[in-house]
Amino acid sequence: MISTRLHPDKQSAAQAIAREIADLIQLRSKSGKPTVLGLATGSTPLPLYAELIRLHRAEGLSFRSVITFNLDEYEGLGPAHPQSYRFFMEENLFRHLDIPAANIHIPDGMAKDPASHCAEYEAAIRAAGGIDLQILGIGRTGHIGFNEPPSAADCRTRWVHLDGVTRKDNSVFFGDLAQVPHGALTMGVATILEARQVALIAFGEAKAEIVARAIKEAPSADCPATWLQRHPACTFHLDAAAAKGL
Ligand code: PGA
Repeated sequence: MISTRLHPDKQSAAQAIAREIADLIQLRSKSGKPTVLGLATGSTPLPLYAELIRLHRAEGLSFRSVITFNLDEYEGLGPAHPQSYRFFMEENLFRHLDIPAANIHIPDGMAKDPASHCAEYEAAIRAAGGIDLQILGIGRTGHIGFNEPPSAADCRTRWVHLDGVTRKDNSVFFGDLAQVPHGALTMGVATILEARQVALIAFGEAKAEIVARAIKEAPSADCPATWLQRHPACTFHLDAAAAKGL
């Protein structure tokens, strides 16, 4: 089931979700348990990451007991490439926190054997006890992670071909469409659905149509975000513009 939560602006959404994450970390670390977070890239989660860094600095929120798994990575981009998601995460979150490097997991876009790397990624999530809270954005194709249409409900972490719409949308970060990779490694829909809680974030009018489809259309591979309707604890955090079609 998808519940929606409307926020007055990006900053308020970021504060609310960061507070939920802080509460979860504090609750679990009291009983000596790690907190496993699923993380996303793109422009949408940036205010959330800025707020988590603020909580770390201003309130001493510690990430020593946090284990992270990122959703996806571009094929062929190594950690030093400024558009790789590994680089993005280091710059925008990890290097500002006290999270141990060994606790950070991001699919390796340079993996020589992507199929076995993806199987190992799934195994590492299971070994960590599963994801407690998964942060998601949504693409205009209806993708979650890089699960482009068509993506079935039972797909797992794997190599995918990026949709032309996604490559065009993401070309703003590369400055040139030709530089955007054609493939990526992504957690699967089934992997995402196994997270105990899901928080999808969407801001702005450009996301209104796909947000409405994700919530109102019958679940199908044609719009992979519709599979979230089958999740028992999924919240869409929206601003008014992204909620316009509801
Ligand atoms: P965006 O990307 O945050 O840059 O809009 C979201 C996504 O593609 O999942």
